[in-house]
Amino acid sequence: MDPVRNPYAPGAGQRPPELAGRDTELSAFDVVLERIAHGRPERSLVLTGLRGVGKTVLLNHLRSAAIARGWGTGKIEARPDQSLRRPVASALHMALRELGPRHGNAEAVADVLGVVKAFAQYQPADAKLRDRWQPGIDAPAATGRADTGDMEIDLVELLSDAAGVAADTGSGIALFIDEMQDVQPDDVSAICAACHELSQQGAPLIVVGAGLPHLPAVLSASKSYSERLFRYLRIDRLDRAAADRALVGPAEREDVAFTPGALDALYAAADGYPYFVQAYGKVTWDLAATTPITEDDVAVAAPAAEAELAVGFFGSRYDRATPAEREYMHAMADLGGPTGAAVSTSDVAVSLGRKPASLSPARDSLIKKGLVYSAERGQIAFTVPHFGRYLLRQPD
Ligand SMILES: Nc1ncnc2c1ncn2[C@@H]1O[C@H](COP(=O)(O)OP(=O)(O)OP(=O)(O)O)[C@@H](O)[C@H]1O
Ligand SMILES: [Mg+2]
Repeated sequence: MDPVRNPYAPGAGQRPPELAGRDTELSAFDVVLERIAHGRPERSLVLTGLRGVGKTVLLNHLRSAAIARGWGTGKIEARPDQSLRRPVASALHMALRELGPRHGNAEAVADVLGVVKAFAQYQPADAKLRDRWQPGIDAPAATGRADTGDMEIDLVELLSDAAGVAADTGSGIALFIDEMQDVQPDDVSAICAACHELSQQGAPLIVVGAGLPHLPAVLSASKSYSERLFRYLRIDRLDRAAADRALVGPAEREDVAFTPGALDALYAAADGYPYFVQAYGKVTWDLAATTPITEDDVAVAAPAAEAELAVGFFGSRYDRATPAEREYMHAMADLGGPTGAAVSTSDVAVSLGRKPASLSPARDSLIKKGLVYSAERGQIAFTVPHFGRYLLRQPD
């Protein structure tokens, strides 16, 4: 089939041609927006799931939904070892730029932008002046607001002031945080405290986070009340009907069809994981000669798709691991089998003939690299679907 017209989009955060199977989450978010804009209490949302399951894409859709309702929005991608101060300032700057024109009082908006600037520019007293960041805000930096250096205090002040601007326009602000498990511990607890405070004030501002399956554990380790503060939505594999829709809908728009046998084979290969659905769909389209696409086309395409995944999806992650980390992951794969089931860390130690404590550095750095996660104490699993299967095919 004509590769130029190939609709499928495997890639990190790539907008899929059809957002399948996420209606529940989208309508839940609509209710949240509506309730908050009416001053009703609502919890902030956190999306969790494995790699490639569609968290970033869904986050972007939720952001579009908020913008469509006239909300101010900003988005951050957290990185390990990076303070949230500048990214949060940029995100709120963006949200206020969206809301500003609809606010009757330009001076009041400029005052809050001055608070954003003060927040962004805060530096410890011993920092060199030339490091001072210029956030591109014309208003003078405020003094005595969001500039104490204590992230918790500063964030509460910043977010309350920004929410005030939104309240004046009858809308709200949504702050989206992707890869939220990578936010530093101090910043995590500041975010929890700020959400807690703002929800008590009934301020129209929510945080919408997305991250790996252990994100709830990261949040509750920081503040015990986080379980009541956030509503967790688990983003999972697509069921058969949704996976078919993800393939068939975009093809129909190009006058291309799939036989039922082709859809069976594609579901068996992709296992409902959105990234795999896109990857197998793309290669199958390119290699199929005519419509309808058949089971035989899928059989021809599958090895090519697997080879592509082995390099791009699995290999790029495997390459980031050190030899000790690879050894650890191979032991996990041997124990967990091709499905990549969670395994016990003590079994990993036994199978490697090592003391559990001597393996903690490898395990911790794999967690930090986002390759594995600990769903419960003493258990470890891959964050990447089908990673166990990939490793079992790799030489040790
Ligand atoms: N609901 C969906 N229907 C069809 N395809 C989807 C859906 N959601 C995501 N995809 C596709 O899946 C792939 C992965 O999506 P995305 O990058 O959002 O995953 P992610 O969960 O953020 O992964 P990571 O944890 O690696 O950041 C993309 O190619 C995207 O187009
Ligand atoms: Mg993502």
